[in-house]
Amino acid sequence: MSRNPRCRVAVVGATGVAGQQFLVSLDRNPWFEVVALAASERSAGKPYIDAITSPGGHVGWACEGEVPKAFAQVPVVDAVDLNLDGVDLVFSAVESDAARALEEKFAPRVPVVSTSSAFRYEDDVPVIVPGVNHDHAGIIKRQQKERGWKGFVTPIPNCTTTGLVVALAPLARTFGLRGVIVTSMQALSGAGRSPGVSAMDALDNIIPYIPKEEEKVQIEASKILGRLEGDQIVPLDIPVSATCTRVNVRDGHTLCVSASLGRPADLDEVKEALRNFGLQFVDLGLPSTPPEIIRVTEQPDRPQPRIDRLVNDGMTTVVGRIRADSVLENGVKWILLSHNTKLGAAKGAISVAEYLLHTGLV
Ligand SMILES: NC(=O)c1ccc[n+]([C@@H]2O[C@H](COP(=O)([O-])OP(=O)(O)OC[C@H]3O[C@@H](n4cnc5c(N)ncnc54)[C@H](OP(=O)(O)O)[C@@H]3O)[C@@H](O)[C@H]2O)c1
Repeated sequence: MSRNPRCRVAVVGATGVAGQQFLVSLDRNPWFEVVALAASERSAGKPYIDAITSPGGHVGWACEGEVPKAFAQVPVVDAVDLNLDGVDLVFSAVESDAARALEEKFAPRVPVVSTSSAFRYEDDVPVIVPGVNHDHAGIIKRQQKERGWKGFVTPIPNCTTTGLVVALAPLARTFGLRGVIVTSMQALSGAGRSPGVSAMDALDNIIPYIPKEEEKVQIEASKILGRLEGDQIVPLDIPVSATCTRVNVRDGHTLCVSASLGRPADLDEVKEALRNFGLQFVDLGLPSTPPEIIRVTEQPDRPQPRIDRLVNDGMTTVVGRIRADSVLENGVKWILLSHNTKLGAAKGAISVAEYLLHTGLV
């Protein structure tokens, strides 16, 4: 499937950890053409490669491989001065306070797909995970009407919520869900670069607190697993108890999840529901959708970040160690891994934009 002409996009926050992943994924994407790179005034006016290079000469590139050649010499503009003429869509990857001001400026004119939390909790804003709740895009028209915007804002979730809901969705739909307990072991890249986590704090350590993260996971999971009724999203009414930690891993969030299901289920049924999940979405054939939304591994020592994070270029959630949880009613527990800067940020956002193009919303 190809699109001609390609959708012209600006990447805002292009110098950051998520922004860099946008460039890697967009460099190979047949549907999008990058026409502008934007960041803060710190980077403005510099060629991209200089904007990510420290005064001491270190290139702060957080992705695998080289900086894509197509972008190295592109001048970075200050996001507040971004000219939207000739831009069909903005990918926004900046911290939430700055994102709020910028996205409010862009969305009246063009669609904005955002990795930030700025708009996630507003009633008329869907938080989309492709394959899980893409039908929530149905409320975008309401957002445009109520706000008088030609464009709109569609954020993706927090990167820890993403892997969690991918595995919960098939179980909620097949067996029902009464409650969830999750403990995350989150990668360092999830903290971004500004300020990020220092090597001295991270090395040989686990940091048992990530500000605001647990609240985000709890609220976002209920919203994403909720149902669209008319032009309202009705959150799934389940308790989600989250403990979020930062560990000494570069990329890939690992989650230990225990769920109380709505009815008893044997483990083979659970695995089948997970394996079959999202196949209709896969069949749409969108460029960034992986051939499997979930991979179930039977190996007792998997998933592991170093081995499994790049399954299907970081777009597949890998679930393993599926077993009964004898403490919870109809309890089942598992360990999952999802790539925080790919599915959980840039490529996940690109996948949302592809779906919106497919449906004609962009
Ligand atoms: N990292 C992840 O795994 C991940 C996953 C999901 C969601 N997110 C979300 O994505 C967003 C970006 O995260 P990140 O990890 O990429 O952070 P980051 O590495 O700290 O990058 C921040 C980016 O925002 C730019 N920026 C900062 N202040 C700005 C301003 N006032 N105006 C315009 N641009 C500004 C920075 O530009 P300069 O370089 O010029 O300072 C940089 O490009 C955050 O909302 C985060 O919560 C991140």
